[in-house]
Amino acid sequence: MEYANLGRAGVKVSRICLGTMSFGTNEGWMVEMEDARKIVARALDLGINFFDTANAYSHGRSEEIVGTLLKDVREDVVIASKVFFPTGERPNDFGLSRYHILREIDRSLKRLKTDHLDLYQTHRWDYTTPIEETLQALDEVVRSGRARYIGASSMYAWQFAKALFTADRLGATRFTCMQNHYNLCYREEEREMIPLCKDQGVAMISWSPLARGFLTGKYLRRKKADTMRYRTDHYLANRFFRPEDFDVVERNVEVAKEKGVKPAQTALAWLLKKGITAPILGATKVEHVEEAVEALSVKLSSDDIRRLEEPYKPHGTIGPVDPSYVPPY
Ligand SMILES: NC(=O)c1ccc[n+]([C@@H]2O[C@H](COP(=O)([O-])OP(=O)(O)OC[C@H]3O[C@@H](n4cnc5c(N)ncnc54)[C@H](OP(=O)(O)O)[C@@H]3O)[C@@H](O)[C@H]2O)c1
Repeated sequence: MEYANLGRAGVKVSRICLGTMSFGTNEGWMVEMEDARKIVARALDLGINFFDTANAYSHGRSEEIVGTLLKDVREDVVIASKVFFPTGERPNDFGLSRYHILREIDRSLKRLKTDHLDLYQTHRWDYTTPIEETLQALDEVVRSGRARYIGASSMYAWQFAKALFTADRLGATRFTCMQNHYNLCYREEEREMIPLCKDQGVAMISWSPLARGFLTGKYLRRKKADTMRYRTDHYLANRFFRPEDFDVVERNVEVAKEKGVKPAQTALAWLLKKGITAPILGATKVEHVEEAVEALSVKLSSDDIRRLEEPYKPHGTIGPVDPSYVPPY
């Protein structure tokens, strides 16, 4: 395993983070405790020390599973969770208000069976709460010892810039990392967010690094998709599957074949080469973790990178939300 600092922070994280949105019962493609146990055990064996969950995943079930499976190694792992999406239907059951953050951190800690998170992340931008209120609440979470670092997930670059400089103005804890949507099929982050993060020394930990499995080559242009994830993950079919997305996948499969590795591995190796500290892999099988870790030794030349990137066509925004957005519960 390789380890890297999380941006300017001293903490070291494995260069593959295990995402755990796949743990729980919310949708048919997810796995429950017994399968999750095997995946986490193998991840730990292979040196993965970085795990990402969220209070909203399967209504808290993902956090419960992660808490159970990591409690014996709690001192050796870096646990990240998130807040923003609804946890109920009442007016204060979502968002980044001081009210919601201070309530949700304690609920997350209880489900995760720990007294602190290593990384607490905002899951989206909250247009209804001043960023000052959010940052001061997060600062309080850190100062009270309930989180070691804070991070943010998908938002527009202007919002992240505003948050970073507002934290400086307030003397509050600054975001250490950005969990953004970035993969070979979705590269809109290269316009503004990635240059901002590089300039500010903010680590990037990308979500859906395999475009929800689309980049692995398991979906073919002229064949009806029929995996459990395709049938039950509402976002997969809507986000990819354009003819130009298949151009990217087919090129990725071609480059992987030439190198004698799996398409999942070239897709991850590309992210690592682009300066992503730790792609957040989604796994529903032990082999997914094994293949991801092997991707650390896949070497891509500048010609490989050029060929992998060549077919990309701009995408509509996937990740940041607009003011009219109504979060689903
Ligand atoms: N911040 C956010 O808003 C946000 C949003 C989404 C996700 N996330 C985080 O990112 C993590 C990953 O998201 P994701 O599940 O969409 O990521 P992903 O890594 O792009 O996709 C994971 C899927 O790819 C397939 N896969 C993985 N490794 C494979 C391999 N070696 N060979 C073949 N297929 C493979 C599996 O599909 P099958 O199950 O069909 O086999 C798996 O479910 C989540 O767990 C979560 O922690 C964050």
